[in-house]
Amino acid sequence: MFQGMVKIVENQDFEGFFKMKLDCVEKVKLAKPGQFILIDCGARTFLKRPFSIHNLREDCFEILYKTVGKGTRALAKKRKEEFVNILGPLGQGFRIESKTKKIYLIGGGMGIAPLLFLANSYPEIEREVFIGASGLDELAFFARNNFRVVVGPEFIKIATEKGSYGHKGLVTDLLPSSFEEKSQIFACGPPLMLKEVVKIALKNNVPCQVSLEARMACGLGVCRGCVIKTKSGLKAVCKDGPIFKSQEVIWDD
Ligand code: FES
Repeated sequence: MFQGMVKIVENQDFEGFFKMKLDCVEKVKLAKPGQFILIDCGARTFLKRPFSIHNLREDCFEILYKTVGKGTRALAKKRKEEFVNILGPLGQGFRIESKTKKIYLIGGGMGIAPLLFLANSYPEIEREVFIGASGLDELAFFARNNFRVVVGPEFIKIATEKGSYGHKGLVTDLLPSSFEEKSQIFACGPPLMLKEVVKIALKNNVPCQVSLEARMACGLGVCRGCVIKTKSGLKAVCKDGPIFKSQEVIWDD
């Protein structure tokens, strides 16, 4: 795990969300898909903010974010060549079973963030990507362009709630009625979407892992500020997750 300052290589505004590229120090190069980084966004925000690793290259790693509060607004103002303090990589990544032949990646909104890194890491496995962008057309274009280089255009399906891009409706409408044998589902997005994905996975008997979000302070499993209920007791999203087997999670109604 690395703690220290890293240089911003790029902080690009995509009208609605941002992609930030950061210098990749050696320890971050060991990150696994699904892990995250805490970043001190500045602007007198007390806590560091968690960001999934969106992509990892030899010389840099990327995060995606939307400006939703003081921290991310401050991050959006940062420029190339400035430095930010980070801690990570943290948490447990996605786990691919050894015999898996196909993975279904389902992302809602900024939930697409960890899925590109995952798709990139398993070129030998067939990958199909489902993106729900709820009217964020810019995000839909961005995701389509990035994923199509990795998995091929025929393996990407997009839904927007207003139908402004792709299928009109929910991303879960696009999931197949039956899943291929020896497949796994990986999902990240809003809780309602995750619950629906979990139901579909259960009905079709497909192993499913979900990436959960939580407010975080320490990021190390110490403060217990991010615990969730699971069938094996309370678990810290930052340390035991953010990736959980779907059947382990106890979902609030
Ligand atoms: Fe402290 Fe998770 S943020 S235990």
